[in-house]
Amino acid sequence: MSDIALDVHISPERLLEDLRADVRQGLTATPKWLSPKWFYDATGSALFENITELPEYYPTRTERALIEAHAFDIAEKTDAPILVELGSGSSDKTRLLLTAGLKHGSLERYVPQDVSPSALEGAIDQLSREFPSLGVRGIVSDFTDTLQNLPADGRRTIAFLGGTLGNLIPDERARFLADIARALVSGEFLLLGVGLVIEESVLVPAYDDAAGVTAQFNSNVLSVLNTRLGADFDPQQFEHVALWNAEEEWIEMRLRARTAQHVHIADLELDVSFDEGEELRTEISAKFRREGIDRELVDAGFRIDEFWTDPQERFALILACREK
Ligand code: AVJ
Repeated sequence: MSDIALDVHISPERLLEDLRADVRQGLTATPKWLSPKWFYDATGSALFENITELPEYYPTRTERALIEAHAFDIAEKTDAPILVELGSGSSDKTRLLLTAGLKHGSLERYVPQDVSPSALEGAIDQLSREFPSLGVRGIVSDFTDTLQNLPADGRRTIAFLGGTLGNLIPDERARFLADIARALVSGEFLLLGVGLVIEESVLVPAYDDAAGVTAQFNSNVLSVLNTRLGADFDPQQFEHVALWNAEEEWIEMRLRARTAQHVHIADLELDVSFDEGEELRTEISAKFRREGIDRELVDAGFRIDEFWTDPQERFALILACREK
């Protein structure tokens, strides 16, 4: 592990402080909520990888096909020696971009960033072996920190894939896109993957699969609170809920209390009670329409260079250029 090129920009103490503040705020609110950021301990990251292989979960394979089809085009247009990836996870689909960038001759360095050290270590270890000529340097941090500390010794492309933008609430999203724009200079690119608004009959099963993997992923967040904050949640006492919020155009995942219950969170000296049937929101995953996301990007300071989509128009891969 010692020779893995990994910079830790967020201390475990800071991360724990963020978790504590978030959990206190979300569990004392009405209705209750938790940030999806906390799903991804080692177990949660592994469960997410399993989700990406489910027949119902179309986003990953759809996005992969789009990246595969356009990787060389992306390399040519961006012509960047540095690829930074926000929320890189296992970096699986990124391989296609790395291969194309190396073949094109422009790419020299890959900088994956994630909050999960376990996911990053695995990815970096494998990528360094697979692409020996590529400089790989991972950053364990959050998005904000990463954008404030981007490498500045060459043209950068920032990739933000998987539809993770949809996990932010609209306010956060606007701020985040503007922060990315501000971190780039004129002529540099953002490569963004987002899910599109499609039939509810396809969307909901993607977040409520028959094998129950997403249900496990969802309730794992309670185990994260048990381990990190000394909480005494019984995950069995909560039922997985996934629904399409047609007004907001986002999927919501919730955990519904099967019975009335009390939970004690030792490290926060906090008691929380749930009514029978009470729901705790654990994630939003917004889906987009072309006009909407184009407008959001333009408002943030980008020009849309390419908008690629699959034949069923379920997912979009967008290449956006930072405007002067
Ligand atoms: C990795 C955040 C994009 O919102 O689709 C998958 C996470 N949640 N199944 C998504 C997730 C439930 C995923 N993102």
